[in-house]
Amino acid sequence: MTAHIIDGKAIAAGLRARVADEVARVKHAHGLTPGLAVVLVGNDPASEVYVRSKHRETQAAGMASFEHRLAADVSQDELMALIARLNRDAGVHGILVQLPLPKGLNTEAVINAIDPAKDVDGLHPQNAGRLAGGFAALSPCTPLGCIILTKSVHASLEGLNAIVIGRSNLVGRPLLQLLLNENATVTIAHSRSRELPKLCARADLVYAAVGKAEMVRGDWIKPGAVVIDVGINRQASGKLLGDVEFAAAAERASAITPVPGGVGPMTIAMLLANTATAAAARARRGS
Ligand code: GUN
Repeated sequence: MTAHIIDGKAIAAGLRARVADEVARVKHAHGLTPGLAVVLVGNDPASEVYVRSKHRETQAAGMASFEHRLAADVSQDELMALIARLNRDAGVHGILVQLPLPKGLNTEAVINAIDPAKDVDGLHPQNAGRLAGGFAALSPCTPLGCIILTKSVHASLEGLNAIVIGRSNLVGRPLLQLLLNENATVTIAHSRSRELPKLCARADLVYAAVGKAEMVRGDWIKPGAVVIDVGINRQASGKLLGDVEFAAAAERASAITPVPGGVGPMTIAMLLANTATAAAARARRGS
């Protein structure tokens, strides 16, 4: 078997076009331009690349994009003051603080300070708790993208065995909750899990989000499984590798995401979608 390659670039482009339509609708109906503020502290090169893409794609969708760049040695108080300003700013409907923050800054305090209604990363405890409770919530963009990619090959995930490898707040934990909401049977594995190959062998859906190049071996994959690779590991050569041994996994899977061009493009598309959702909710509340 050779797997169908799930085209994240094309699926993300379709999603961005739908977001642009929704932005036009909100503008027309409510005279409101959705706005996204991105805060970048320091100058981590990978984060710089993401932030530039976010800026470009936000504007391309017809939304306002506000970039706030702070020096790596900014004080906690200054950062908290910026968040407070963005919370009050009526032109800002979504706030994203690029992670990881430089050492010395308290990430938890920053996330807790974001207005949950503007928390387009879905990281605030109110949104994370609502998601875990099965209530409507703004949810993290990468796991939302993973669900859409999976549904591009399986309209329903009901009753399927899923394994999520990785338990981060940005990906693994929210993905577990989103999969439960889809009625999948979910195993969450991590660096301390025993017998990972055996756990993978029964999975119809494999989500790899560990941040280690090709850690998930091709022969762990159950024939016919769908493999979603969240990893982006840049090699010394400059080549990008996923968390899955792609060529060998593609021999067994029915469908697999490539790296690059799989999950990556979906993350920003979902960020735009969350921002449009937050703006539409604000327009409905009329405040
Ligand atoms: N760094 C890498 N991915 C993300 C993300 O989705 N959100 C934030 N805030 N930071 C990130």
